[in-house]
Amino acid sequence: SKPLRLGIAGLGTVGVGVVKIVQKHGTLLAARAGRPIVISAVSARSRDKDRGVDLSDYAWEDDPVALAQRDDVDLFIEVMGGSEGAAKDATEAAIKAGKDVVSANKALLAIHGQPLAAMAEDAGQVIRFEAAVAGGIPVVKSLTEGLAGNEITRVMGVMNGSCNYILTRMEDAGLTYEAVFEEANQLGYLEADPELDVGGIDAGHKLALLAAIAFGTQVDFEAVELEGIGSVTIEDIRQAADMGYKIKLLGVAQLTGRGLEQRMSPCLVPDTSPLGQLQGGTNMVVLEGDAVSQIVLRGPGAGEGPTASAVMGDVMDIARGLRISTFGQPANSLRKARAARAAVS
Ligand code: NAP
Ligand code: HSE
Repeated sequence: SKPLRLGIAGLGTVGVGVVKIVQKHGTLLAARAGRPIVISAVSARSRDKDRGVDLSDYAWEDDPVALAQRDDVDLFIEVMGGSEGAAKDATEAAIKAGKDVVSANKALLAIHGQPLAAMAEDAGQVIRFEAAVAGGIPVVKSLTEGLAGNEITRVMGVMNGSCNYILTRMEDAGLTYEAVFEEANQLGYLEADPELDVGGIDAGHKLALLAAIAFGTQVDFEAVELEGIGSVTIEDIRQAADMGYKIKLLGVAQLTGRGLEQRMSPCLVPDTSPLGQLQGGTNMVVLEGDAVSQIVLRGPGAGEGPTASAVMGDVMDIARGLRISTFGQPANSLRKARAARAAVS
């Protein structure tokens, strides 16, 4: 049967992880999807870099827009990053060229997700982004599929592993924020611009995406009340511990009488609770629905394998013909009937 032909833009941590899965599990993927999953072409900034994987069977494009427009690409995978420039241009080009898109890029989607989703819908394409929220945890799938029969009442969780690493290391080693920040930076745990992590922006992007899916609202990152972890002191952590609490960078999204509330801020959580027990770079997302009550999802929020695992989950859905739009409701219906729900102001 007809192969699904991938074009992968970005060959860093996530892109290489995707290549490895396709190469390692070709037979398994084909059996599960009922058709071969093949890589046609790839793109990155530097063609000469040794990436530890054999790319010789794939066509190379310097320009990700050209990759997105290739006739031998059915599905465009955007794993470059950045909310503007190449990632945005190439994603738009892919949709215009009639390709489905799988993205790990929370910054792009939190800021431009709504118009991109509307554009894709008009063109009959889908954009999927499981990897953009909580890395390897299938939280988007849980909301759009497993919990589709629920009215979601609240979504909350720890969605930035770097901040959780910093906070738990401060607790465990009694080190200052500054000392642990430096350590995390040296270990390569922080984004190139660390403010994205410690300022709560990265986690805020993820929360905005989850909230839109959960409540069927427009993605509204600007409306997220953001506070990062930069002002958390070791004294705060000690005082919290004395009272039986931990400090976590916690995101909460819920519908209130005033509309959709989205908050990402350092919060006290009981140290014996699942959130309080969360160590290091792990993520945890708590989903509450009227029928299911509460489910807790825990797992790796970043890294080559976990993030590529989430990308491939989306690829497999598309390969199987499962064309569920990631956003909770069709983007265009939302645009036309914004007042239909109590939320966005
Ligand atoms: P990365 O390691 O920095 O890799 C980025 C890749 O994109 C590199 O291969 C780079 O090329 C390529 N690239 C950047 N700008 C380009 C351009 N203008 N044209 C062509 N190629 C370009 O990033 P990553 O960690 O894999 O992350 C990729 C995306 O996944 C980001 O949106 C990130 O937020 C998201 N994500 C990452 C993780 C994670 O654990 N790393 C988890 C969840 C989501 P060169 O290699 O030649 O420089
Ligand atoms: N900087 C992010 C984190 C990477 O620490 O969670 C994964 O999105």
